[in-house]
Amino acid sequence: MSSNKGPILYLAPFQGITDAIYRTSFNRHFGGLDAAFTPYISGTGTEKVSKNKLIDVLPAVNRSVRTIPQMLSKDADEMLLLSRALAALGYTEANWNMGCPFPRVARKQRGSGMLPYPELVRQILDKLYQGGMPVRLSVKMRTGYNGHEEILAMIEVLNDFPLSEVIVHPRTGKQLYKGEASESAFLAITDLIKAPLAWNGDIFSVEKFRYLQEKFPSVQRWMLGRGALINPALPLMISNHEAAKSLDMRKALAGFLHDIYDETYHRNEGRTAVVSRMKSIWVYLRESFENPTEAFRVIRKTRTPEEYLDAEMKVIAEAPLKSFS
Ligand SMILES: Cc1cc2nc3c(=O)[nH]c(=O)nc-3n(C[C@H](O)[C@H](O)[C@H](O)COP(=O)(O)O)c2cc1C
Repeated sequence: MSSNKGPILYLAPFQGITDAIYRTSFNRHFGGLDAAFTPYISGTGTEKVSKNKLIDVLPAVNRSVRTIPQMLSKDADEMLLLSRALAALGYTEANWNMGCPFPRVARKQRGSGMLPYPELVRQILDKLYQGGMPVRLSVKMRTGYNGHEEILAMIEVLNDFPLSEVIVHPRTGKQLYKGEASESAFLAITDLIKAPLAWNGDIFSVEKFRYLQEKFPSVQRWMLGRGALINPALPLMISNHEAAKSLDMRKALAGFLHDIYDETYHRNEGRTAVVSRMKSIWVYLRESFENPTEAFRVIRKTRTPEEYLDAEMKVIAEAPLKSFS
């Protein structure tokens, strides 16, 4: 944990990208994080949580950085069962996804699709706490599905429960990732939420972070998403500028990718799987180079692990890096 004086920094969850291998390697080569949230676990049912669903949260692969498992569900029994499985693994907190905007999720009143239904959320929370919720619960949410004002009724519900924190990404579900994270929608709620509040959205530079910090002085918790996937040094640049200055970026990037590659390869999911996994990381990482299209062109056309490794080495060694500030 960083000292009380500094901001508390979280790595946002990205389904298909920020798995345990990614989180561990990130922390090993860049650091700067106080905690990382896992991509959501869903569809665990109410009978028994299969081992498969817990692979990414096993303590053995999550020792390097404080890890907070996330669940996506609108079924209190399912959430209780999963929470008990998490508690049995040693977790003391879990996060509830009320922000996922993807239509196939939201259509079923899950993720951001719950936001127009505060009474549904109340019923679920009632059941969770009456059922002896074994871990502390935090929420990650958007400001609404159809419009920002939806969050107001939801806050009244959330305030009736002992949530450990509320992380708000001030876009609506309908917006997906269009437009900008709304500072005014966030400002409107900073004094309304009882639980500690965290900002999530569009932190792509130290400058933007400082700006938001000034704009929302009561906020101490910040979740970095795409900004950290693009520039994995960003959390360290924010939390420890001196340490970040002495970071050899090319070396750190090479080590970071090497560890992810290696661990993924040894999972034996197949040669094609490792290449497509690495490419999905580059979808974001390419933006840390001066010419993202060119950097990605070299990576994208690779088919075999050997071709990929050659291309990765070439880009990391030669492509001009952007300077972030
Ligand atoms: C491909 C993709 C996968 C995501 N997966 C999750 C997820 O599993 N759980 C979640 O709460 N948010 C998920 N998110 C949302 C991010 O965690 C984050 O809230 C969002 O990108 C906004 O933050 P940013 O502007 O800092 O990137 C995902 C976003 C993307 C683009």
